[in-house]
Amino acid sequence: MCGIVGYIGERDAIPILIEGLKRLEYRGYDSAGLGFFSKGALNIIKNKGKVALLEEKINGHNHQSKIGIGHTRWATHGIPNETNAHPHFNKEKTLLVIHNGIIENYQPLKKILIGDGYEFKSETDTEVLVHLIDSFLKKGVTLFSAVRHALNQVEGTYGLAVLSCGEPDKIVVARKGSPLVLGIGENENFIASDVSALIAHTKQVVYLEDGEIAEVYKDHFRTKNIEDEEIQKEIIEVTMSIEQIDKGGYSTFMLKEIMEQPESVLNSMRGRLVHDDGTSKLGGLESVLNRIANSKRFIICACGTSWHSGMVGEYMFEQYLRIPTEVEYASEFRYRNPIIHPDDTIFFISQSGETADTLAAMKEAKRKGALVIGICNAVGSSIARDSDAGVYIHAGPEIGVASTKAFTAQLSVFALITLLLARRKDMSLIDGKKMVEEFQTIPGKIEKILKLEKQIEVIAEEFKNAKNFLYLGRGYNFPVALEGALKLKEISYIHAEGYPAAEMKHGPIALVDENMPVVFIAPKDSTYDKIISNIEEIKARKGKVIAIATEGDDDIDRLADYVIKIPETIRMLMPILSVIPLQLLAYHIAMKKGLNVDQPRNLAKSVTVE
Ligand code: AGP
Ligand code: GLU
Repeated sequence: MCGIVGYIGERDAIPILIEGLKRLEYRGYDSAGLGFFSKGALNIIKNKGKVALLEEKINGHNHQSKIGIGHTRWATHGIPNETNAHPHFNKEKTLLVIHNGIIENYQPLKKILIGDGYEFKSETDTEVLVHLIDSFLKKGVTLFSAVRHALNQVEGTYGLAVLSCGEPDKIVVARKGSPLVLGIGENENFIASDVSALIAHTKQVVYLEDGEIAEVYKDHFRTKNIEDEEIQKEIIEVTMSIEQIDKGGYSTFMLKEIMEQPESVLNSMRGRLVHDDGTSKLGGLESVLNRIANSKRFIICACGTSWHSGMVGEYMFEQYLRIPTEVEYASEFRYRNPIIHPDDTIFFISQSGETADTLAAMKEAKRKGALVIGICNAVGSSIARDSDAGVYIHAGPEIGVASTKAFTAQLSVFALITLLLARRKDMSLIDGKKMVEEFQTIPGKIEKILKLEKQIEVIAEEFKNAKNFLYLGRGYNFPVALEGALKLKEISYIHAEGYPAAEMKHGPIALVDENMPVVFIAPKDSTYDKIISNIEEIKARKGKVIAIATEGDDDIDRLADYVIKIPETIRMLMPILSVIPLQLLAYHIAMKKGLNVDQPRNLAKSVTVE
């Protein structure tokens, strides 16, 4: 999920690698490392924390190297520490690997490798790759073949780079689901996960496609697919500027993160859906699953956007599990002397895993004997470490202060937990399978919604000078209304309120006049007719209506001033789709006002104070 760089040529590799890693820092990471040839042997220098620290560390040595690779890690398996940082060595220190992505079947592979006598030093999924490649090398094949054979056994995603003492004239790289490019220079070549890391040296690049493996020498390269067929790659000249490239071609992190959602939601589900059993598999909950399933009550505790995802979680749990569920603001919960029973399960949700109130609320819940589950994005964060069990949402680093892709990944994880527990209760195999199939359509549907960006931009232009906004939704889409309003407040500084649509009549309707835009989240579901009546009420008072509706619903066109149509899905999963237009709307309004969406005033990404 983070960064890879590599150099092979006649120059001193280490400063080039450090500079490349610095160029990738914007993506966020938790540790950094280098692997390189020096004096005929392979070396690794790595640490938890910043590239600057790595630079200091390496300057203390007197290494000379012309071939090396570097990595910034965003932990997915195993906490961020020096041991888990990449590269990873084989036992003899003759082979090293760096990897971005997730090896889904690392557990069975690890078992087999341990059975064959391999010892694991780290907790990462990545380490299976190094031992697996090693096991093929020991059969006498080339490095290229060993990598190819190993990857044939692997399920998951990878951007990969490998160095081996047996073939010290090359870097072997591979890609599946995690980007990798080659930079072609004169008598030197580069590799990177992102062109920004190599653009200072060359604009001639080769983009690897999924399933391709390349051998990179200093003066040429060779590409094959995983079936061992030779592939001719085109060298492309990069025309983007460094500023553009830095954010993956987007002008802001927030937009990049909104646009990444098909992938981040897919990553949150990756390896966790079991179609044949119509269920999901969440390794982090296995040890406590009975206790969760037998709980008398669930409490979900969080702050901000994570609290909104918790509200959607409440609807899911109640609909499918019939377990009473309460959602609490962590800041209130911790000081209220909450009533907690030993057969309560309390879910603490936090993107950062470091939010002070959520952490303190969790400690309080633990003290009172509840089972405490962490749902975090940042691996090894305080909440992830201190909870009894947990699930990572695998959204990848979120840099924009306004949370977007973490929210949808949190929703996806709540849905996975719901499916897992529902199948242990009274959901049938057939219904479970149908649900798995529906889950699988979600990334594609998000992609479709993202294509509506231009239409949403037009709406943003129309309403950018509004002073207030109302967001209304019912059922599962009430928390989405809250989240839509929060996004707008955070980045555009426009006052916005989210309400359950029917509550509007009990007060907020007094605000409605021709200057009040009202966003309705109105997909075709069991509350559709009711929400249409609410739209009529707004129209009767000359309010301007922007509706998020289901594709094919043409009736709503005559009522609403603007309609954004999104694909259909089951109720439980609808918030993952319906929030996306609201993220884009807030984003474009803020941009049109010339505001800094990535770092809005007064806000911090991680609120580590009360
Ligand atoms: C979201 O856009 C906010 N910046 C904020 O509400 C955030 O969700 C909240 O601070 C909780 O953060 P956490 O998920 O890292 O705990
Ligand atoms: N899954 C690997 C790990 O946790 C790679 C993480 C990354 O992509 O940075 O070490």
